[in-house]
Amino acid sequence: MSATRSTGGLVVPGDEAGIARAVELLRAGDVVAFPTETVYGLGADAASATGVGRIYRIKGRPLDHPLIVHLADAGALGFWAGEASPSSRALRLVEAFWPGPLTLVMRRREGAPAHACGGLPTIGLRCPSHPVARRLLAAFAGAGGKGVAAPSANRFGKVSPTRAEHVVADLDGDVPLILDGGDAEIGLESTIVDLSRGRPRLLRPGAIPGSAIADVLGEPVGAAGPAAPRAPGSLAAHYAPGTPIELLDGREIPARVASLRARGLRLAVWSREPVLANAVEWLAAPTDPQDYGRALYDSLRKLDRLGVDRLLIETVPPGEAWDAVRDRLGRAATGSGAAAADGA
Ligand code: TXA
Ligand code: MG
Repeated sequence: MSATRSTGGLVVPGDEAGIARAVELLRAGDVVAFPTETVYGLGADAASATGVGRIYRIKGRPLDHPLIVHLADAGALGFWAGEASPSSRALRLVEAFWPGPLTLVMRRREGAPAHACGGLPTIGLRCPSHPVARRLLAAFAGAGGKGVAAPSANRFGKVSPTRAEHVVADLDGDVPLILDGGDAEIGLESTIVDLSRGRPRLLRPGAIPGSAIADVLGEPVGAAGPAAPRAPGSLAAHYAPGTPIELLDGREIPARVASLRARGLRLAVWSREPVLANAVEWLAAPTDPQDYGRALYDSLRKLDRLGVDRLLIETVPPGEAWDAVRDRLGRAATGSGAAAADGA
């Protein structure tokens, strides 16, 4: 692979030449990072044990955590999914939301490659809408590929990348090629719905709300529940920056700032209302949930780089429109270990 790694730049536009190089790498069992509308993915041929193995090694991801397989279109569903013809539930969701930020967990077809499935009898399938991802997947399918396994292009447990420079910062030296597709429009990982076990269940909230899925299916969508399949995005501590984070109601922030400043801690605050105090960096939090989702990971990276002792982040409003953001903020705070830092 070293010959391939030395030709051309690391970050290239997602144009014809970039896509051609990416397809070559995928076909050779190598990895490429590419943009999707949610976050950047670290992709490999889902049918290649070598390629998928590289993803796990580069991410440092436990081998029993499954990866999502990305498809050019719904035509490849039957190759991967278990039913002789995909269930009517799956078809209805595909019709309503693909291409887009929805991952379907379905029973894997017997005989379909299982490298991306972490030992589970199921498979996660998604057809992204980002034009560069679509061109890449179509070109790969045209070259005989069946799908591209791709987790977010970051180290395990860390903040997902929403622009090419984030991938460079995280994975430089480990990926031969990053297709640049600009800033991710959604900024949070796809909604995951499990169709493999009777009643549909929401495994991870995302831009497509559970209520929209329930509307299309004409039946309720349950919460993940204790029997839910393994999903690293559902580990309590995930998507975490290095600086300890505290999540606080906006009304609690001024008193908390005062008490931590009295102990000499340097702080950054991400809240809707300005917080002006000595040795406190303040960043304005978006008031619209879509804007917030788009800004979240980049803001966490920026806040993390300030090198302060503690990040104070205002909790987001109640309601389904904020579910995905609330979920990721909660995990980021848990993973950052602020509670352990001083029992606060
Ligand atoms: O938006 C996204 O979904 C992004 C972009 C790159 O498409 N990908 C992403 O992948 O977030 P990753 O690996 O970071 O998260 C994939 C999630 C994990 O929580 C994984 O466990 C779950 O999908 N998943 C994949 N296959 C599954 C399966 N067979 N059963 C249950 N969960 C599955
Ligand atoms: Mg991830």
